Amino acid sequence: MSRLICVSNRISVPKRGAAPGGLAVGVLAALKQTGGLWFGWGGETVAGEPGEAQVLTRDKVSYATVDLQEDDFDAYYNGYANSTLWPLFHYLVARAFHYSDEQYDAYQRVNRLMAERLVPLLEEDDLIWVHDYHLIPLGQRLRELGVDRPIGFFLHIPFPHIEMLRVLPTYAELLQELTCYDVVGFQTEDDLRAFRSGVAHIWGEDALLPDGSVAVGGRHIRAGVFPIGVDVDGLQAAAEHGAASEAVKRLTHSLQGRKLVIGVDRLDYSKGLIERFTAYRRFLETHPGNVGHVTFMQIAPLSRGDVNAYVEIRSALEQASGSINGQFATADWTPIRYLNRNFPHAALMGYLRVAQVALVTPVRDGMNLVAKEFVVAQDPADPGVLILSPLAGAARELTGALQVNPYDTRGLAHAMQAALTMPLQERRRRYTSMMQVIRRNDITAWHRRFTEALAATAEPDPSATTDAAPASRTPSRASVRPSDVTPIR
Ligand code: G6P
Repeated sequence: MSRLICVSNRISVPKRGAAPGGLAVGVLAALKQTGGLWFGWGGETVAGEPGEAQVLTRDKVSYATVDLQEDDFDAYYNGYANSTLWPLFHYLVARAFHYSDEQYDAYQRVNRLMAERLVPLLEEDDLIWVHDYHLIPLGQRLRELGVDRPIGFFLHIPFPHIEMLRVLPTYAELLQELTCYDVVGFQTEDDLRAFRSGVAHIWGEDALLPDGSVAVGGRHIRAGVFPIGVDVDGLQAAAEHGAASEAVKRLTHSLQGRKLVIGVDRLDYSKGLIERFTAYRRFLETHPGNVGHVTFMQIAPLSRGDVNAYVEIRSALEQASGSINGQFATADWTPIRYLNRNFPHAALMGYLRVAQVALVTPVRDGMNLVAKEFVVAQDPADPGVLILSPLAGAARELTGALQVNPYDTRGLAHAMQAALTMPLQERRRRYTSMMQVIRRNDITAWHRRFTEALAATAEPDPSATTDAAPASRTPSRASVRPSDVTPIR
């Protein structure tokens, strides 16, 4: 059996604790099941040239970490990855997009370095699975270094339609880099369609094959949808256990019988938090019977604090929560509990279980695993209600949620009232329908489907004919329509 190599910017090294976000949870689950190697940035920066990867093995999983060069890190991570690609891919160009050649160059240098440090660790039979927008060029760099094993790429965040993507000066290079993989995976059909719109724009409609794959530069790239999921049984056990913990008992005691509305998000402008706070204010104004009887707890651990847009959203949220509490609080009730910190996963699952309503209202999100985690955490006999943005990838699967546009603050306020007063029978019906799809697309299904698709590309293609054009691993620039191409950097 092939060894699985997962590569991502951030990795969860044992002892140093879990990295935030669904990516780390998903990759770790895959590796724990199959064994293999997880390669990525170790969280340190150095002044000079970074050394070789440090490898640590625990049970079946090896963790290989590299340091990054200080200046490159800032331009690569805070710059191109999180001030260019992140806002662009979330359709938030007017809000936070910034582009600079220097940052793009640093992004490319970091990808080259990661490829150079990974190659010595590779073995004959490896399957290589690259994760997320930080590492889009990595596949092409590995090919240039002679790696001919199957390489797949999975994008955890949304992929923008070509009409948004081409705002990026380097969009043609980005699409070309994606076509160097054997399998390219997305969270939803919408993301896949958007990718195909980019392929068609550059290489023409003929590059889109009826089976969903794309043909570029004499190669077939399998492009598909692999919605990420959760470990249902593990989370259910954690939620039950968490609900009985001291931390959760303290929370419920402090609520004094009031209903709990909960939100759990990294502090990010894509999560719709300002709109959510505004909607909660509106809910208290338009449904005054709830004043003093409902508490909204928003957990929002700080994230990417060196990026300006994140500094701004943090300060706007502090202002909004302070203003709402100032307007409505009484001597013994605080309408919003706003917490900029993270909690152990079991405690979080316990908090989700005891909440009557969850607000998962991003203005754009790849999947949003909190939506799935909330549903799984519920007590089947008395489940809470999920209010979900249709602009989250999870909305494709979780049709049993109350789906409301995150900018529609009046609609959200109504939904909160509807959720808090929803009859038990309807709550159970919605819960059961969502659990079915969450189970079908659980975390094991996600990595099994992807790695099977990747492994299949290593097998000889029975439909290949001897006079077919020789497969070139690196598509030539000639296959890119000249009018669409920005100069190669
Ligand atoms: C999202 C991204 C991940 C990222 C995570 C945390 O889930 O898809 O790639 O790791 O956010 O963000 P950070 O910038 O802290 O790694």
